[in-house]
Amino acid sequence: MEQDIRYYEEVDSTNEEIRRLVRAGERSPFLTVFAGKQTEGRGRRGRIWHSPGNGSLYMSMLVPVDFSVEKASMVTLLVACSVKRALETLSVEAKIKWPNDLVVSGKKVCGILTELYQMEEMGHFLVVGVGVNLSLEHLPKELENIAIEVKEPIGREVLGKRIRKVFIQVFEHFVKEQNLYFIKEEYQRALVHLNQQIRVLDGKTAIEGIARGIDDEGKLLVEQKDGKEIAVYAGEVSVRGLYGYV
Ligand code: BTN
Repeated sequence: MEQDIRYYEEVDSTNEEIRRLVRAGERSPFLTVFAGKQTEGRGRRGRIWHSPGNGSLYMSMLVPVDFSVEKASMVTLLVACSVKRALETLSVEAKIKWPNDLVVSGKKVCGILTELYQMEEMGHFLVVGVGVNLSLEHLPKELENIAIEVKEPIGREVLGKRIRKVFIQVFEHFVKEQNLYFIKEEYQRALVHLNQQIRVLDGKTAIEGIARGIDDEGKLLVEQKDGKEIAVYAGEVSVRGLYGYV
């Protein structure tokens, strides 16, 4: 519903704004915040998400945890799939770099930040933030290689609302199934590293092998030299192809 969508010209971070709204008593599932600009946009692992207000999309949604909290990391993969589908409706073919970066022509076009919170009177909830770089304008030079200017002009709110709509559908499916089996095929087809040699960094540990897809819980399946397959949890890991960003 439209009243569950808030528009701001500028905020510190749309994720933070959702958190404030929840603290102030808002509870609507999928409450969504769009901002034209963020002054303290944040990325994963404490990184900054440059959000200069160049027509790019910055949005966050409040997601109820209607499932066991251990499954929260699966939601991030659902969001990645939703962004991919929404971009498709605008004729942009994106790949997914596990677990949740979207890649167009080898460059990261979208980042997803999922934050899990707990409040006494509410229990757990997720704040899912999505940033899609729709323009390179005002971005630092060093980001030109990881951001992309989408060719056709895309209204950020049109894209944002499509992402929200697709996400609500797949999320409801997920809550029924409690696993990712129903989107596994689609997700795997979109994997930028499928059947390629990768290195997965989990803190100090590096695992090398061939990416073979994901399991029903969204873990990345990596075939090691000895033929054994291991499943890597989508926590604090980063995947590197052997060349460049992807
Ligand atoms: C990443 O590091 O790849 C995740 C980036 C997530 C950025 C988005 S922009 C909207 C939302 N608000 C934030 O502060 N971060 C997320």
